[in-house]
Amino acid sequence: MVDLIKDIIRAHAEGQPVVVRGWVRTKRELKNLVFIEVNDGSCVSNMQCTFEKTPLEAPPEARDRVTRDAVLSALGTGASVEITGALVPSPAAGQKSEVAAQDIRLIGDADPEAYPLQKKRHSFEFLRDIAHLRPRTNTFGAVARVRSGLAYAVHAFFKERSFHYVHTPIITANDAEGAGSLFQVTTLDIEKLVREEGKPVDFQEDFFGKKVFLTVSGQLEAETYASALSRVYTFGPTFRAEHSNTARHLAEFWMIEPEAAFMDLHDAMELAEDFLKALITYALVNCSEDLSFFDAHVEKGVIAMLESVVHSPFMHITYTDAVKELERHAAAFEFKPFWGCDLQSEHERFLTEEVAHGPVIVTDYPKEIKAFYMKMNDDEKTVRAMDVLAPRLGEIIGGSQREEHAAKLEQRMAELGMNTERYQWYLDLRRFGTAPHSGFGMGFERLVQYVTGMANIRDVIPYPRALGLAEF
Ligand code: 4AD
Ligand code: MG
Repeated sequence: MVDLIKDIIRAHAEGQPVVVRGWVRTKRELKNLVFIEVNDGSCVSNMQCTFEKTPLEAPPEARDRVTRDAVLSALGTGASVEITGALVPSPAAGQKSEVAAQDIRLIGDADPEAYPLQKKRHSFEFLRDIAHLRPRTNTFGAVARVRSGLAYAVHAFFKERSFHYVHTPIITANDAEGAGSLFQVTTLDIEKLVREEGKPVDFQEDFFGKKVFLTVSGQLEAETYASALSRVYTFGPTFRAEHSNTARHLAEFWMIEPEAAFMDLHDAMELAEDFLKALITYALVNCSEDLSFFDAHVEKGVIAMLESVVHSPFMHITYTDAVKELERHAAAFEFKPFWGCDLQSEHERFLTEEVAHGPVIVTDYPKEIKAFYMKMNDDEKTVRAMDVLAPRLGEIIGGSQREEHAAKLEQRMAELGMNTERYQWYLDLRRFGTAPHSGFGMGFERLVQYVTGMANIRDVIPYPRALGLAEF
C-alpha cells in the first residue's frame, strides 16, 4: 500500500523517494514551477508537491516531461492523482517538508467548472447540501477523524474496565423512555390502508404480527445483560421522532449506554465523569492536529476549555437546589423556572456557564419529568436520576439508578398507564435475582460537538437525519 501523507510527514527521512496519492486541493503556477497541494484525508495537512516545468525548447528525450506538463496544466481542484518524487526540506513556512515531484499520473479527472468545492471558505449550510463531498474539506475531514478516534476510545475505555459490548436490537416493541417519539416500522401497505379509511388496522397482519418501532434506547435490553454479565454497554444508533429542530437534536443519533449491576447512582456519576474525561484526554493526545485546527478556525479556545474540563472535578447539584438558584435569577429567563419544570436550554446554559463554569451533574429530579424505570427516593417525589450538563450544549449524559423492586416498578408503570403485560421480561429481572443497578446514556454526536466545538449537531454526523431532512 502507498504511504499516507500523515506517515510521510512524520516518519520519512529527507531525500527518500515517495509516492503520494490523494485529491488536489490547490494548484499554483509560476513561470518555471507548478505547486500542487494534495490531501489524502489521513491528516489536516496537505502535501505540497513542486514540479519544475520543462523548458519549451526541450530535446526529444524530454517528451515524457512535456506530456507530464500537459497533465499538470489541465489539472483542476478535486482531481485524484498519484505523484512520485523525493521528500525535501520545504522553504515554505508552516511545513517541514515537501515533495520535489518528478511525475504525476491523473487517476480521476474533476471538471473545474462543475466541482462545487472552491478554494474559498464555504459556509457549513452550503456544505450540508453537498454532504457527499464535504469530507474533502479541512473541517469535515477533521470532524470525521475525531469522531472515529472517539468511537475507538469508547471501546477502549470500557474494555479496560471489563464492560462487555452488547448489541441491543434496533427494531423493538418498547418505548424505553416513554416519551412517545417513536418511528413506527411496518410493511403494511399504508396507501391501501388510507384508501380503506374507517377500517381499524390489524397489526397481526404486519411483518412482526404487532406494532413495532425503531429503538429510542438500548437500555432495557442492556439491563438484562447487566443482570447476567455484571458490566455491559451498548453503542449503536437510536431514533427519535422529536419535532425539535435545534442545533443539538437529531432524529437518528448514536448513543453509548453503559449499564452495571451492583452500581448505585454515585458509582454511575463517577463512571460518567471518568468516561467523559477519558474521552477528552484521548482526543487531546491522539487528535491534536485536528483539535488545533478547530481551535484556530472553528471555536477559539476549545483546547484550553477541554484541558480545564479534564483537570477539574465536576460540580454536583440537586435539581431542587438548581431550581432555587435559577429562581434567584428568574429575571434572566424567558421561561420562568419553578420546581417541577423540565430544565430549558437557557436554564442549562445558566447552570453550566454562570454557576459551575464547566460541566455540572444535576441529580434527584422530580419523578414526573423522568422515565418510569428510575429508582424512587425516600421523599417519593424525586428519583435517583443524574444528568451531566455541559456549557453550550446542555445535556450530554442522562442516567439513573434503576428501580430494582418488582412491586414498586410495577406500581409506577401502572400509575403511568403502561402495559405491564408487554414488559414481563423486564419485570422478571426484578423477580429473579434482582440487584441494584445503574447506567447512563451519552449522545455520541453531542460528545463530538463538545470536543470539536462544532456548533451544529448536523455537522458532526456524516449524513444527518432530522425533521424534514433525510438526504443521501
Ligand atoms: O437522556 P436520554 O433520553 O436517556 C436515555 O435514553 C436513557 N435510556 C439512557 C440510559 O440511562 N441508558 O438520552 C441520553 C443522551 C442525552 O443525554 C443526549 O446526549 C442524547 O442521548 N440525546 C440526543 N442526541 C441527539 N439527538 C437527540 N434527539 C437526542 N436525544 C437524546
Ligand atoms: Mg435525558
